[in-house]
Amino acid sequence: MNDLAGKHIVLGLSGGIACYKAAELCRALIKEGATVQVVMTEAAEQFITPVTMQALSNRPVYGSQWDAREPNNMPHINLSREADAILIAPCSADFMAKLLHGRADELLSLMCLARPIAQVPLLIAPAMNREMWAHPATQRNLAQLQADGATLLGVGSGFQACGETGDGRMLEPQELLEDVIAFFQPKVLTGQQVLVTAGPTYEAIDPVRGITNLSSGKMGFAIARAAREAGAQVTLVAGPVSLPTPRGVTRIDVKSAQNMLEAVMQHAPIATIFVATAAVADWRPASAADQKIKKDGSGQAPQLGFTENPDILASVAQSPRGQSRALFCVGFAAESHDLLAHAQAKRARKGVPLLVGNIGPATFGQDDNALLLVDEHGTQDMPRAPKLALARQLIAEISRRTRAVA
Ligand code: CTP
Repeated sequence: MNDLAGKHIVLGLSGGIACYKAAELCRALIKEGATVQVVMTEAAEQFITPVTMQALSNRPVYGSQWDAREPNNMPHINLSREADAILIAPCSADFMAKLLHGRADELLSLMCLARPIAQVPLLIAPAMNREMWAHPATQRNLAQLQADGATLLGVGSGFQACGETGDGRMLEPQELLEDVIAFFQPKVLTGQQVLVTAGPTYEAIDPVRGITNLSSGKMGFAIARAAREAGAQVTLVAGPVSLPTPRGVTRIDVKSAQNMLEAVMQHAPIATIFVATAAVADWRPASAADQKIKKDGSGQAPQLGFTENPDILASVAQSPRGQSRALFCVGFAAESHDLLAHAQAKRARKGVPLLVGNIGPATFGQDDNALLLVDEHGTQDMPRAPKLALARQLIAEISRRTRAVA
């Protein structure tokens, strides 16, 4: 996907060993369609050369406010006027202090001060030793920078170049990329608490075997990510899948349908939107054996009895909050045929205002999908597209409907 197509990012590097990650970040931004203008402080040039950054960004790098390449000799004005955002990565403790005080004694801080504050957001990816990060001066500066309108992209935790372990590492390039993409998404779910179920469930037969299905969880994870990008607080209840957790999403791993029901019921009372994408097993073995079931030599297969699993979506949708739409419930229908008829029938049966149909065998495990939205007013097709693109469209539709309810 080209999530940053048409965006022009000024990538500012201040001095820190995390400059090596800025090279990868620059590439990642460009791969997503952005154009990137690199500006480096003198200290940054101690860690990585402008040659590297020029080669990666395909643009001359700026490092001095006296750069005569600009006809008006004002790179701090020209560079900041073109930008859709200025991203400082890495942002050193010293550079944060400079930003805080509005210092303007070199190009990067001068450009940040000179930017049109209402049009050009400033994103900060701090990088420093854990003691520097935890120091009251840094934390104070951070709070004030946020109060002044800067967006903090957070820090990572772990082994640091100095040999110590703790908070303060710069986030990884892929994490920063995800945050920058999220930053540009419309914040249509600010203030909402979104609960999502995703993936298959696993119903144990005995300690080594069980019943599951082909759901990959990709659609549900994409919806959780899109909801987070839209500004919601998101809890993702995931069946057994090995997908990475989207940035900023709280994940609860579960196995069986009953585990999933418990996790959902615990979080439903504070949720305002519930999206059930999980492919919940309809039945579970009536009793799971404590020990592995062995062949007994008779040639006869064991007789397994089954019990129907609780319907998680229906339980939530038919609760008082679901009925009053204080909790807006969205169901999915994975069908193999007659999508429209099954989706309409399922919407009525589950008691949800919005049901999203898809053809299961055509989408399980794939990175793209096609959706059919069914509500009380009719149907709407969402043609085949990457799951994240569909998830964003669906979030926009949910936002429209929840606003209408409110
Ligand atoms: N669902 C659920 N709990 C269940 C079964 C389904 O929460 N025990 C939810 C799914 O997450 C989905 C919707 O209900 O949002 C429809 O799921 P689907 O498997 O398509 O339908 P079923 O209800 O299982 O009906 P059928 O098997 O007859 O198609």
